[in-house]
Amino acid sequence: MPPFSIVVAADQTSGIGLGGDLPWRLRKDMAHFLRLTSTVPRHGSQNDTAIAPAADFSTQTDHGVQRINACIMGRKTWESIPKKFRPLSGRFNVIVSHDPHYLAGEPEQLDPMVVSATSFEAALDLVQSLQASSGPAISDRPSIQIERVFLIGGSQLYSEGIESKECKYIFLTRIHATVECDAFFPEINGSEYTLLSAEEARSVLEEYTQQILETTAVEEGRYSYEYTVYRRN
Ligand SMILES: NC(=O)c1ccc[n+]([C@@H]2O[C@H](COP(=O)([O-])OP(=O)(O)OC[C@H]3O[C@@H](n4cnc5c(N)ncnc54)[C@H](OP(=O)(O)O)[C@@H]3O)[C@@H](O)[C@H]2O)c1
Repeated sequence: MPPFSIVVAADQTSGIGLGGDLPWRLRKDMAHFLRLTSTVPRHGSQNDTAIAPAADFSTQTDHGVQRINACIMGRKTWESIPKKFRPLSGRFNVIVSHDPHYLAGEPEQLDPMVVSATSFEAALDLVQSLQASSGPAISDRPSIQIERVFLIGGSQLYSEGIESKECKYIFLTRIHATVECDAFFPEINGSEYTLLSAEEARSVLEEYTQQILETTAVEEGRYSYEYTVYRRN
């Protein structure tokens, strides 16, 4: 199974959703999510931590192969994304549903950047088959190479993903408020994950986003929140 990271925004009681939608609108956090999930490692090395210019974060093409990150999500999270914003652009979208024909008849059925998988494990296997280290790309998507893998929700899939040894980081935007929610992020086990200091979190985020981050603390409207990072022990 490929390593992956979780990306989530939660309030101080770990609330993440209400009525199938996000309970808040945080423009800056959405921009952060876009940057975090879209930025591919710079050409040549996954470990190249050099900071690139701000505009240089989108998918990269390498000898005709598009290097792109994957976002794995539950079917309800997919359906919560407004149609005009899905599939998530510049990322490979993997929808997890028990229904093997979930995409049949949908406009995204023929989109090479959208697939469905019938389990989280199947989603990871599929993504791995499109990673460079796993040999030739599958035949109908010859020009895509998956780089980083993110699990982006919702509650059901987070519960499964957080238990996996392949979950390396949890990128958690912690909102310093209590908001009405009916979907929650699972408890983060302190023996499995360590909450990084703000300095360490900033360093990991800079590596992932290839952008200098002045601070991990954000003020937006009536909300204040912080970009936190948990690392698997
Ligand atoms: N704050 C955040 O960062 C954030 C991020 C993402 C989502 N959310 C919120 O979270 C809520 C949605 O979360 P949710 O838990 O209700 O739904 P979800 O996890 O997005 O989707 C649940 C669906 O995914 C499929 N699924 C889940 N686990 C599966 C498995 N192991 N095998 C096969 N299929 C599986 C099933 O689809 P089928 O029924 O089709 O089989 C299931 O009904 C929304 O309110 C959303 O806005 C918040």
